[in-house]
Amino acid sequence: MTESLDTEPTSTIRLTVNGTLHVLEVPDRKLLSDVLRQDLELTGTHVGCEHGVCGACTVQLDGEPVRSCLMFAGSAQGHEVTTVEGIGDDPEHPADVQQAFIDCHGLQCGFCTPGFITTIDAYIDENPHPSEEEAREAVSGNLCRCTGYQNIVSAVQRAAELRAEGASQ
Ligand code: FES
Ligand code: FES
Repeated sequence: MTESLDTEPTSTIRLTVNGTLHVLEVPDRKLLSDVLRQDLELTGTHVGCEHGVCGACTVQLDGEPVRSCLMFAGSAQGHEVTTVEGIGDDPEHPADVQQAFIDCHGLQCGFCTPGFITTIDAYIDENPHPSEEEAREAVSGNLCRCTGYQNIVSAVQRAAELRAEGASQ
């Protein structure tokens, strides 16, 4: 028998997203990706495969990239969630990783881009001077159907340059 959503158990969860605490009543099995998009209207987090394969839904949990389609929202309680909007949401003043994608023409349709941005933002903190090979490895878990990846790899290195410049100012 299929349980309807109406009878699904729910819980009150406290979720900190992009620095803001939200208190939400959600079904216990509702995914973090769905809560971000549907409850918080943070639709920058994209959902592609829903199986942990494509990386489009990547957000940061305490600064580490995670697949939000593989987590229940309740599991994110007590952690800091950062979505692509938390990295940068001002088109006039893009964040360094976003600027790198602009500089390197690292996107076409843009569907995959938020997952790359959140992944690379965390990566260049860990490795501020990635080689081309390291940059390629850093994005190897994210799929893009449009670009052929080379410009995304360039964007990883460009983002690292921009972050280093920002840190030295
Ligand atoms: S939608 Fe989560 S990894 Fe593809
Ligand atoms: S830019 Fe279209 S999927 Fe990557």
